[in-house]
Amino acid sequence: MDVSEQQQADLAAEIVTNLKSKPGALLPILHAVQAQLGFIPDSAIPIIAEHLQQTDAEVVGVISFYHQFKRKPQGKHRVQVCRAEACQARGARELEQYVQDRLGIALHETTSDGAVTLDPVYCLGNCACGPSVRIDDHVYGKVTAAKAKQLLEQLTLAPAEVTS
Ligand code: FES
Repeated sequence: MDVSEQQQADLAAEIVTNLKSKPGALLPILHAVQAQLGFIPDSAIPIIAEHLQQTDAEVVGVISFYHQFKRKPQGKHRVQVCRAEACQARGARELEQYVQDRLGIALHETTSDGAVTLDPVYCLGNCACGPSVRIDDHVYGKVTAAKAKQLLEQLTLAPAEVTS
């Protein structure tokens, strides 16, 4: 979604107005803003804080505490290389470095074209087949650098058509 800053602020204000009377309203508001925009923009923070009679720092503190909340626009695709022990024993660290180099970004960053966000993950429940990688909702096992290269190329060539 490509939304202007003013539209983001307006949407945040609308969400806050609708949800602020709920008990423990901050989390439902943050979830709703992120569901609508894909992240929680800076412009939404003072709006949320003012309506809930909190400080900006308090709102930011809650956003920072929960890893699922994002403060920047996320890529069209999310790539995660498992960092947990079983995958590490099978070369996940080297694979993670390869993926970072290939994408030209570090962990928690998004490629400049907005195609891919690279995030860490700690176990994908695929330990016996490590190193494991998740791309959007699909988990891949025994991922080599060559396989990662193929998967990443498919993301840029055919965004909705990744095969295992
Ligand atoms: S340790 Fe990587 S999938 Fe479990």
